[in-house]
Order: sequence, then structure tokens, then C-alpha cells
Amino acid sequence: MQILTYPHPTLRRVSKPLRRVDADLRKTIRQMFDLMYAAKGIGLAANQVDLPLRLFIVNLEAKPDAGEELVFINPVISLPRGGSEEAEEGCLSLPGLYGQVVRPKQVRLNAYSLQGKEFEAELSGLFARCCQHELDHLDGVLFPDRMSATARADIQEDLDVFETDFASRRGTGELPSDEELARGWAQWEGKYA
Ligand code: NI
Repeated sequence: MQILTYPHPTLRRVSKPLRRVDADLRKTIRQMFDLMYAAKGIGLAANQVDLPLRLFIVNLEAKPDAGEELVFINPVISLPRGGSEEAEEGCLSLPGLYGQVVRPKQVRLNAYSLQGKEFEAELSGLFARCCQHELDHLDGVLFPDRMSATARADIQEDLDVFETDFASRRGTGELPSDEELARGWAQWEGKYA
């Protein structure tokens, strides 16, 4: 398992709702936490590791021995209120790149836990921002898509570098073709969606 980087096609895929969780998937989620900590991230969406399913993980402390490990399955965000605020975001799929993104300050989030229990949370601050960023991933949206046109123009060159690098790695066969990716998605979706 590895973290996919922009513009990998799985990052643009709208992920499918999860219908069941089994031991294999729990093991996969454990690996996601380990990968996230290794990359010093606070959140990771399943499609960032080529899993086209609606789940993401969060630990705001970014460390295995601190904070709380949270798993959000089939998350839905509603009732943004309290206005919006701008803050800098980064993404493990766009390493080294940061940009200002405006988002609702407070949101209500409904999701299922790993144990299949539905829960609701009122989020604010970094927690709200992180969950909105991760939920965006499940819809194929990346933080530069949320930046103002002027702010995005400033990072366009960096995005171009990612795109060129991706194209050349694909050219050498290091990265799977669209057909191979589609087969992988179908396998996961057939098993869990
Ligand atoms: Ni991200």
C-alpha cells in the first residue's frame, strides 16, 4: 500500500458507499493509519491509497501514541454554520504543496464507526477543516480545486510538475494503466460497496 499522488486517477474517482466491514478491511485501515503517521499526516482518505470506498481516517495529533484514532465510514456533512474561515491546507497526495482554502467554520458530520455504529459530531476548527478536506477526497475533490483562481495560479507550476512526473512514470510502466486501475476498483467495489 502506498499514498497516491496527484494526478493519479483514483484521486478523482467518486468513491462508493461501504456496505460491510470485515477483518481484511480492518487490517487495511490499520495500514492506512501506519502510512499516515509515516507521512506525518492528520487525515487520510481511502481513495488516497487506491481504495475507492467512502471512508477516511483522522488523528489530529498525527502520532500513534497520542490523540485519538478516528474512522469515518460513509460520512455526510450538513448544516455548515458560523460563517467561513480561510486557512492553509496541505495534502499527502500533493507533498510539499500548500494553499489557502476557505471553508465553513463549523459543520455537523454524520458517519458510521468501524463497529457499524452511527454517530453525529459537531465539528469546528482544525477538526472541521480536516474532515471537510477528507470528505472532499471521497468526491474526487482536491484542495487546489477549492482555492481562489489567483491563489491557484501561484501553485500552477507545481501542479504542472506533478502532472509531468506522473505522465513520465506512467510512460515507463511504473504506474498502472487506466484499464488496470478500473480492474482494481471493481474488485474493491465488488467486495465492499
Ligand atoms: Ni488530502
